Amino acid sequence: MSQKTYGIDFGTSTIKVYKKGQGIILLERNVVATVGKEKRPVAIGEKAYEMFEKEPPSMHVSFPLSHGVIADMQDMIALWNFMISALSGHRKLKGGKFYIAVPADTTKVEKHAYSHIVSEGECKPKNIFLIDKPIADAYGLGLDVERSQGILIVNIGADTTEISILSFGGIVVTKLLPYGGNYFDNQIINYIRKRYNFIIGRRTAEVVKKTLVSARPSDEEVRITGRDIVRGLPGEMYMSSNEIYPLIEDIFHLISSATQSIIERMPPEISQEIVHNGIYLTGASSWIKGLDTLIKNETNIRTNTTVDAQVSVVKGLGFLAERPKLAAAYVSQLK
Ligand SMILES: Nc1ncnc2c1ncn2[C@@H]1O[C@H](COP(=O)(O)OP(=O)(O)OP(=O)(O)O)[C@@H](O)[C@H]1O
Ligand SMILES: [Mg+2]
Repeated sequence: MSQKTYGIDFGTSTIKVYKKGQGIILLERNVVATVGKEKRPVAIGEKAYEMFEKEPPSMHVSFPLSHGVIADMQDMIALWNFMISALSGHRKLKGGKFYIAVPADTTKVEKHAYSHIVSEGECKPKNIFLIDKPIADAYGLGLDVERSQGILIVNIGADTTEISILSFGGIVVTKLLPYGGNYFDNQIINYIRKRYNFIIGRRTAEVVKKTLVSARPSDEEVRITGRDIVRGLPGEMYMSSNEIYPLIEDIFHLISSATQSIIERMPPEISQEIVHNGIYLTGASSWIKGLDTLIKNETNIRTNTTVDAQVSVVKGLGFLAERPKLAAAYVSQLK
């Protein structure tokens, strides 16, 4: 019987799964709804997210990953068991190979925690390989990782922004900033509550962000539904992009300046090649309007964006999973 091989990017907001021979088979919210003391999962992903902020007291809706670190291992394993059971058609999956992406700028213990999700789950894997995210990202972008002397990737996700420089297949430097799309959502929620005494949910905030957040001021407007705190009733209001811009512009500048200072510390051979290749922006928060131009203007280096921004890491895991000999150069085998 042939071995099943998977690539998994456990992102803070979305889990992406690649299956060897098939391609990307899943992109699902990293959320689980559980009931009871034993935390029995009843829903995961988008379904669990829909229950968030509406769940009855007997239910707990959890986001098990936070800032690139597994915040609740029990919930994360419960989510994984539920997910893998659905993926395998509710048959017991035994002995697969798993390539898992891990943030490069974290401790060994935190990296190994990712392997526990799979090793402690019900699927009893044969092998688990950890691959640093920037390496997977670069392969997912289709770059010549082994021969290129300077690749700069800025992955702007939900809870993290990972800035990394690769040279000849190795990671020269990597820095994890604790900011991403979730920070923007929270800023929007807090501002609307304080300024207008109006409460909006996390799902609404995310929609507002995707419509209005822009790295340049703009006049766009959107209708928002929520609850008026003073009257205690549901209501609606209008909000413009210009109002949101000041809440988050600092983070755009922070990402640019962190990128700039990392480049400045590079030897000339590497920085010259980065200037030649341009900066690669990945992670779904890189789709924020105007962010590519802002980073280009502040660093004076061209930026490359991609429609694959959300799946570039898992695509790279897939690329390596299809080429085990090449992958062996990058993985640490744990089991
Ligand atoms: N069109 C869009 N415009 C702006 N933001 C977006 C858009 N689409 C998705 N996002 C945001 O991108 C984030 C998810 O990106 P991604 O899937 O790359 O993160 P992740 O891998 O789950 O998180 P992390 O890498 O930080 O662990 C969410 O905050 C989401 O709201
Ligand atoms: Mg990510």
